[in-house]
Amino acid sequence: MLSQRINRIQPSPTLAISARAKAMRAAGEDVISFDVGEPDFDTPQHIKDACIKALQDGDTKYTAAPGTPALREAICRKLQRENHLPYTPEHIVVSCGGKHSLYNIFQSILNPGDEVVIPAPYWVSYPDQVLLAEGVPVILQAGQEQDFKITAQQLDDCLQSHERVRAVVINSPSNPTGAVYAPDALRELCAVLENYPDVLIISDEVYEHMVYAPNQQWSVARHSEEFQQRTILVHSFSKTYSMTGWRLGWTSSTKELAGAMSKLQSQSTSNPTSFAQAGGIAALDGPIDAGMMAEFEKRGKIIRELLKDVPGFECARPEGAFYAFPKVDGIFGVMVGKDTQLNSADDLAAYLLKAAKVAVVPGEGFGAPQHVRFSYANSMENIKEGINRILRALPQ
Ligand SMILES: Cc1ncc(COP(=O)(O)O)c(C=O)c1O
Repeated sequence: MLSQRINRIQPSPTLAISARAKAMRAAGEDVISFDVGEPDFDTPQHIKDACIKALQDGDTKYTAAPGTPALREAICRKLQRENHLPYTPEHIVVSCGGKHSLYNIFQSILNPGDEVVIPAPYWVSYPDQVLLAEGVPVILQAGQEQDFKITAQQLDDCLQSHERVRAVVINSPSNPTGAVYAPDALRELCAVLENYPDVLIISDEVYEHMVYAPNQQWSVARHSEEFQQRTILVHSFSKTYSMTGWRLGWTSSTKELAGAMSKLQSQSTSNPTSFAQAGGIAALDGPIDAGMMAEFEKRGKIIRELLKDVPGFECARPEGAFYAFPKVDGIFGVMVGKDTQLNSADDLAAYLLKAAKVAVVPGEGFGAPQHVRFSYANSMENIKEGINRILRALPQ
């Protein structure tokens, strides 16, 4: 007999598709992956070297539950230098990745029945993590027609009609849409939130360095000192430094909340891996790979152009991260073969994997059932070949 809590949630749909594509590849099939949520670049050598040195120096023991003082100080330096936000190490909790940080947040701020506003399309884990904490996700639709961004009016209406909202999630740049909120748009949301001073803001900025000009990264934590207090920042080493397997991320919040999350970690995972944390310091104190960012921008342009030619697909220009999120309902109802009809994004993704050997993630898990997600963390050659395969597999 399993708990009601665990039965309330679903396995991550992005990991499920990847598992199927991996199994096909292991069986010798040539699958092109548009499903992976991680950069196709290796972790930079200076970061690996720092980790190897830490191992060799015997840095293999427990550390403080919220991370080593040295890493938390490096994080504060980074937040000041790049984000213009003053924090001290007591505000920082290093975790086993952004996903773990979000889990810690929801467990630490929600009472049963508390509501969390989640704009859709959303990253798959937010609603399930809220449910795990016995909270209630309140989904706010922001479709392609509004550039995947909630408006101030929408947020105001939502906060007026829901009495138990504890927090609002903002994810910019966004997974799965690639949308980036302009600073002015975020200031408008802040102006609404000023009228609801008890509502916290969870700002997921794990893609902060993947923003294509003329778009600009900005954080609601910069709106005012009060907003810095109300905002829980989520950052990760995964995307910026190609460190997804290292499992390292962090939160920046009030000391009170940091203390609570640190207590939670001390009774659950304990500290993130000691030598991974040493690599984290080298990452933050070293350069950011501008070449990788430029490559993503180039690929984003190409994939959008190519997707335009796929009948029934409609794709907005990605503004950041490394995802394209075309609307594909133009293809729904179409017959492929004698007895297969594509009636959903799920059907389309299953068909493309089988018939074209191309893995994409259907939008259902992102709260956007008319879309599929393409990650372009893949070579230009594979991107072109992958879209060609899709063109060949779908009726023209
Ligand atoms: C929007 C968003 N937030 C958080 C995460 C968590 O990343 P990690 O746990 O690897 O730090 C991801 C990963 O895909 C993401 O896309």
